[in-house]
Amino acid sequence: MEKKKRYYPNFPGVPGWIYGGNLNFERVLFLLHRITGLALIFYLFAHIIVVGFRAYSPEMWEMVMGRISGHSNPVILFFEWLLVLAVIFHMFNGMRLIFLELGFFIGKPSRPVYPYRTSIDRQRIFTWIMMILASIFVIWSIFAFFMGGGNHA
Ligand code: HEM
Repeated sequence: MEKKKRYYPNFPGVPGWIYGGNLNFERVLFLLHRITGLALIFYLFAHIIVVGFRAYSPEMWEMVMGRISGHSNPVILFFEWLLVLAVIFHMFNGMRLIFLELGFFIGKPSRPVYPYRTSIDRQRIFTWIMMILASIFVIWSIFAFFMGGGNHA
């Protein structure tokens, strides 16, 4: 008997992260928030393993840091910068979500009568403000990482 392929429109899986709704500015931010959130969890585990080497000996720590620090390898420096970008974006977009989920900047609630209203246009100015603030930190990070703006040797 032929096996029927089932399709669950409400459970589109990982591809639904991209196409599960109107592809607008907020959906791009959602996708980036999820990717950066998962990347931060991945980094957290890697970070604990790396820092754990200090428990062996000071020499072991020096050796590990000598190999995987951004000071010694420009490729690693670039990935460290990507991590900083992920933190900046996740932090500012996360603050945006916390404000919106608490009910700020979305207007007064109204009865859900057809045609349904959306607060998306109302929220968008706040969204832009948060993204502009994040961009200022991104520009700062470029100076700190690649133009000698950091205070390390
Ligand atoms: C800088 C402070 C942070 C803020 C303000 C913040 C804020 C948020 C918020 C509000 C959400 C819920 C998004 C929603 O409404 O659906 C969220 C989701 C998430 N955060 Fe954070 N977060 C922060 C730091 C972190 C860190 C350090 C990690 C990882 C170690 C992390 C990993 C995640 C993950 C995996 C999700 C779920 C994403 C998803 O379901 O799409 N966050 N964050």
